Amino acid sequence: MSLPDPKRQIQSGSQLNERIMLMKWFRKIGGFGRTALMLAVMAILASCTANSPEREDEKMESSSRSSVEQPNEASKAESKSDQESKDKQAAEGDQEESANDPDVVFVPTPQPAVEKMLEMANIESDDLLYDLGCGDGRIVVTAAKKYGIEAVGIDIDPVRVKEARQRVKENDVEDLVTIKQRDLFEVDFSDADVVTLYLLPGLNKKLKPKLAQLEPGSRIVSYDFEMAGAKPDEVYKSSSGDEWTGTIYKWVVPWEKETK
Ligand SMILES: C[S@@+](CC[C@H](N)C(=O)[O-])C[C@H]1O[C@@H](n2cnc3c(N)ncnc32)[C@H](O)[C@@H]1O
Repeated sequence: MSLPDPKRQIQSGSQLNERIMLMKWFRKIGGFGRTALMLAVMAILASCTANSPEREDEKMESSSRSSVEQPNEASKAESKSDQESKDKQAAEGDQEESANDPDVVFVPTPQPAVEKMLEMANIESDDLLYDLGCGDGRIVVTAAKKYGIEAVGIDIDPVRVKEARQRVKENDVEDLVTIKQRDLFEVDFSDADVVTLYLLPGLNKKLKPKLAQLEPGSRIVSYDFEMAGAKPDEVYKSSSGDEWTGTIYKWVVPWEKETK
């Protein structure tokens, strides 16, 4: 058994005395005094916490947050123009991705008929060709490969657009051919020298006013369907020797009116 350390005993004895004195004083100051003392201690503690380094970090964070939430005038103007350009891009993207119903389903022109259509178009080296409703892109790709001209394919159907772009890539004519997903009735093709069509008689008729405004000498070549009221300059009907069956119509701007 070890004896108690005298130093320790002295220290704990004086601590005991201090506590007894404190309790006596606490009792002496009464209920009101004790409440006042508690409040003072709480106030001191609160002010210490408010000035602590952690609290400073919190303030920095909240001020940087508030600078994002409440932009000054310059950043407001910047974010407005950012938003406008985002809206514009979104609108263009929507148009690009629009999935309106086609006015006519996809039926490809037989490849030998494509060759004949382009032959009838009397293509020159600096011509620009549009295929309105380009389907899988066979006409625009053939025009670029065989005649080395620039061509634009327009189709509203995203599946066709994908196929056409694939064909363009496979045939390595990306520098000459552009495929756009658009409604052909909303496209500006006023720079066309040649327009190819495989639509329907009613759609050709609807396009007539725009086609009539093309530069004189521009050629329109349609597979299978006429354009009511416009007299074709040339009509080719397939014969038994051809590997396809159908009729090709060609108009040169300005065409003669047809009176039937
Ligand atoms: C009969 S296919 C002709 C395809 C191609 N020109 C050819 O000769 O092989 C008609 C094409 O027109 C497209 N089409 C229909 N309505 C359209 C519109 N309003 N705008 C753009 N393309 C449309 C269809 O998706 C389809 O691919």
